[in-house]
Amino acid sequence: MKYSLSSATPANLSTDCLVVPVTDKTHLTAGGKQLDAASNKALSKILHSGDLAEAQASTLLLHGIEGIKAKRVLLVNCGEAGKLDGRNMRKALQGAMKVVAGLKARNVHFLLTEASLSDQDGSWLVSQTVQQVEDSLYCYDATKSKKAPKPALKEVGLTLPETTGRAAASSAIKQGKAISAGVNVARELGNLPGNVCTPSYLAGQCKKLAEQHSSIKTQVLGEKQMQRLGMGSLLSVSAGSDQEAKLIVVQYQGSKKANSRPYVLVGKGITFDTGGISLKPGAAMDEMKFDMCGAASVVGALTSVARLQLPVNVIGIIPSAENMPGGRATKPGDVVTSMSGKTIEILNTDAEGRLILCDALTYAERFKPRTVIDIATLTGAAVATFGNVVSALLANDQSLADELMSCGKQALDPAWQLPLWEEYQPLLDSNFADIANIGGPRAGTITAACFLSRFTEKFKWAHLDIAGSAWNSGKEKGATGRPVSLLVNYLCQQQA
Ligand code: BES
Ligand code: MN
Ligand code: ZN
Repeated sequence: MKYSLSSATPANLSTDCLVVPVTDKTHLTAGGKQLDAASNKALSKILHSGDLAEAQASTLLLHGIEGIKAKRVLLVNCGEAGKLDGRNMRKALQGAMKVVAGLKARNVHFLLTEASLSDQDGSWLVSQTVQQVEDSLYCYDATKSKKAPKPALKEVGLTLPETTGRAAASSAIKQGKAISAGVNVARELGNLPGNVCTPSYLAGQCKKLAEQHSSIKTQVLGEKQMQRLGMGSLLSVSAGSDQEAKLIVVQYQGSKKANSRPYVLVGKGITFDTGGISLKPGAAMDEMKFDMCGAASVVGALTSVARLQLPVNVIGIIPSAENMPGGRATKPGDVVTSMSGKTIEILNTDAEGRLILCDALTYAERFKPRTVIDIATLTGAAVATFGNVVSALLANDQSLADELMSCGKQALDPAWQLPLWEEYQPLLDSNFADIANIGGPRAGTITAACFLSRFTEKFKWAHLDIAGSAWNSGKEKGATGRPVSLLVNYLCQQQA
């Protein structure tokens, strides 16, 4: 998509569709007022007629207005000016893009003058507009025999808020495009079925990423190598599967200092979760193809980071396996030894995410990370607690937790913290091993994080349980690409 900045008089913009924000039912922004004047008050007459529906993000499409060069004007209801924040603005942009996509317009222009948000600046608005455009263009067709037609939209024009400089806006465009590229990579990997997106496929995609960016190197460990490292916990998960488990290590070198300590992202890459011998019930089991969305978000974030050439070092570690029942599968009661040396009693083979993550987290120690963030579709309890609105966040370092929450809030990809208190730890006691892999039916998201915390004592660590936020169910079933924008926002704010 081509983006361009314009300072032309709004009435003279020649575009297929000019998007004009409206607040307080009839209020136009400075740019909108110019249009209104040029069109002999056509816009304000229409607005006062009440035809623009009251609901937030409602739209009204107008054709061939005299005095306005644009073929169409799309009025978008942004609600009360006093309450216009980033969230409401995103809804309005989504509403507008839905209409634009249906029009088959070749180009669209957003009149963003004076669209001042209570909690975000102009650069944010530019970046968010780009992200909503790119988001609306994503269409899954990888496993359909008829490919989706190429989107008609080729060019997007932006008229900026007065206070936003051109340099800031250009970099916001670049940032928005890079984040969207990462989000869409994560969505695509998430949406691919389990018979395509296997651990080996994920490894192949990470090798491709390294071919595309000289700043990235990818290393893939197979089961033999993991055995030598003592990753008995990870390997217990793939034991029942014909697909070989992989540990994928993607290293991005952005810092000028070669040995600058890295930020490590660890993503759960269960390419299908049947539950293993503790087999899941059949309903909606297909959605367990999304159990690698943590891994997908790591690949997505690294895609964005490489495009932005961020001046930091980032390492993605992706433990990947398929969780299957079978003659060689791990059974409830089995005890395995993790890479850390700690023994684990596997009371439920469906609590497999933590079993692959713990060895990946131990492996992360060798990089002397500044921080480690793991991202995992870890517990049904996170869905029960937060639905699809926020990701659950738990951490052993409060300033890291605070930072991630604030990055998520800004990126409109929120996370909310749960307590990682020691009172919960005894729930993981085992009579037969150092630790059990489940903590019983209560406080499932917290006890899962407690399990991981036993393997993260040597570094600052945060855990994002994205079981609710990583994909949508129902008619809109599909991966969301979360929390790529949270992660990229976090990495953008780190020092070299
Ligand atoms: N991948 C699932 C978590 C999940 C379930 C995510 C449903 C989204 C929707 C995970 O591997 C799992 O099965 N967790 C179990 C843990 C339990 C056995 C302690 C769960 O949450 O039920
Ligand atoms: Mn499971
Ligand atoms: Zn799982």
